[in-house]
Amino acid sequence: MRAQRACWHPVAFAAGLAVRPVHADLLGEPLVLWRGRDGRPRAMSDLCVHRGTAMSLGRVSGDDIVCAYHGWRYRADGRCVAIPQLEDPSRVPAKARVAAFGTQERYGLVWVALEEPRWPLPGVPELEDGSWTVVTAGPYRWQRDAARQVENFTDFGHFPWVHPGLLGDSERPVVPRHEVRADGHVLHYVIVRPEAPNTDDFPVFGNEQAGPPERRSRYELRLPYTIALRLSWRGDRGMVYFFTSQPITADRCAGYVVIGRNYNLDQSERVIQDFEDTIFGQDPVVVESQRPERVPFDLAAELHLKFDAVAVAYRKAMRANGLTADIPIGIDSGTAS
Ligand code: FES
Ligand SMILES: [Fe+2]
Repeated sequence: MRAQRACWHPVAFAAGLAVRPVHADLLGEPLVLWRGRDGRPRAMSDLCVHRGTAMSLGRVSGDDIVCAYHGWRYRADGRCVAIPQLEDPSRVPAKARVAAFGTQERYGLVWVALEEPRWPLPGVPELEDGSWTVVTAGPYRWQRDAARQVENFTDFGHFPWVHPGLLGDSERPVVPRHEVRADGHVLHYVIVRPEAPNTDDFPVFGNEQAGPPERRSRYELRLPYTIALRLSWRGDRGMVYFFTSQPITADRCAGYVVIGRNYNLDQSERVIQDFEDTIFGQDPVVVESQRPERVPFDLAAELHLKFDAVAVAYRKAMRANGLTADIPIGIDSGTAS
């Protein structure tokens, strides 16, 4: 997953990050996250160089983080600057340092890149505009790779089967024609598809109740694991559905949802969060049964039909951009369990 290290990935909701250090895993790398004095997020290896203790058990002191075991003090750039057991605690050997990583906070999420990122985060002005309401949901932790979660999110064929009455209508299972345009590491596609009507439990969408409900969905899938989906109905009602998956390890992920809407501005956040919890609760039983655990990027490995155009384009683009696993396809690395 070397190429993935040079991409921005979500690691936490920003609202959950305070001064206290917290642990997160990204691409198998244990991280400690905290906020510095300026309020900006920091990230470094969650492994004290002294005895391998989790730095996230420690405490933040000013801009530094202090290990819980023997009190070694680290700067946010990973340098150890004080070893209390020494007569002169500042005589720190040069080797006493851990890796530190780039961070940013955007769309209510903390993002980390383990190496210099190849691409910037996508622009989603609706989420930063201030006149739309923004609700977050998740994270949804699944025992599969992030690519399986991304593909599931944009898999049109499953909506009437796995989410009947909520995202799809089982009387209308045909996937409408759609074309995928690949532009570098971004896939663009639009689909006008049948959807289920708003339910009394989850009146979250902007559709009208007259005639079969339809919605226009404009997707922007940014490799490796981020989707900005813009939904629109007749009139000017719009919803932005921002989805991004954290590759925890090669076989585990966490999905974050950030939703902006320009209607139903007063609706309680809980309605949309309960809806997302329901949807994301319906998928794992099928997705976590998929074999292999990781998306096989070799197109011969699964059977693709015309309506799977997005998955085909995604797998091709992931390969073309060098983002597929470094290990041979179909061989289990046995990393996470
Ligand atoms: S293990 Fe961190 S200071 Fe000893
Ligand atoms: Fe789903």
